[in-house]
Amino acid sequence: TPYEFLLTSKPAPGVALVTLNRPKALNALSSPLFIEINAAMNEFDNDDDVKAIVLTGSEKAFAAGADIKEMRDKTYADVYKNNFLENWGLLTKVRKPVIAAVSGYALGGGCELALMCDIILASPTAKFGQPEINIGVIPGGGGSQRLAQVVGKSRAMEMVLTGRMVSAEEAERWGMISRVVTEGSVVNEAVKMASVIASKGALSVQAGKEVVNAAYELTLNEGLRFERRIFHGLFATKDQKEGMTAFAEKRPPNFTHE
Ligand code: HXC
Repeated sequence: TPYEFLLTSKPAPGVALVTLNRPKALNALSSPLFIEINAAMNEFDNDDDVKAIVLTGSEKAFAAGADIKEMRDKTYADVYKNNFLENWGLLTKVRKPVIAAVSGYALGGGCELALMCDIILASPTAKFGQPEINIGVIPGGGGSQRLAQVVGKSRAMEMVLTGRMVSAEEAERWGMISRVVTEGSVVNEAVKMASVIASKGALSVQAGKEVVNAAYELTLNEGLRFERRIFHGLFATKDQKEGMTAFAEKRPPNFTHE
């Protein structure tokens, strides 16, 4: 692959796998690493052969956060002028589903990176946390906002103010992740899930992602109207005709993503 800190592959039809590969630093998210994450996501978002993307790290660490050593000497003027971390949000602009397969530490920016994905699967070894409070700062990659949305105020406050790590089992109970899978299988399970998504019509998959995300931004009425309009729009696609015809004819659909 053309990347220094990432491994990329296509482990199944329609599925791309992006593996953070900075093992000596537990996948600490340095600026060069994040630039590569954005580049790889952009590459696969624009690759017609890819229908869903899996993002993972190593067994020991999904990612242990933003790179503390890189941040240490930055001044307020540096981070404000350059809008430090702004480019992290690009991941949320990816149109295709992104599944995080989390083993080991997902801390600080690593937890935030997982929260930017559409679905999170975790190994029993996963540990989620926002430990920024221990180093004199707070989450800066959306952690406070996305965490509060998914786990509620009390749990978000506890994580952000104490820095305590949350186990995979707890994260599942809290609704932060879809589910915990057996140890060693999280990438496989994520690829399997991505393959299921890849077998659907890509237009309706993209629409489904877009409308669920709208639930986090719009009022209920605006969201319902947006959903209905996108739903209406899908009647202009061949995949809608094919999907409903295949059902009536009792055969599997042959989606052409048009
Ligand atoms: C830079 C890091 C790092 C990080 C680990 N390393 N995390 N380097 N930034 N976030 C480096 C260590 O310095 C060390 O390098 C090597 O990775 C292995 O880590 P160890 O600490 O030796 O491993 P271990 O004892 O197993 O402890 C694992 C750990 C610990 C509990 C995950 O590394 C840790 O607490 N890391 C920091 C976690 C954190 O605070 N994250 C939030 C960052 S702030 P050497 O060279 O010594 O071998 C953040 C801001 C977000 O994310 C806001 C914007 C998104």
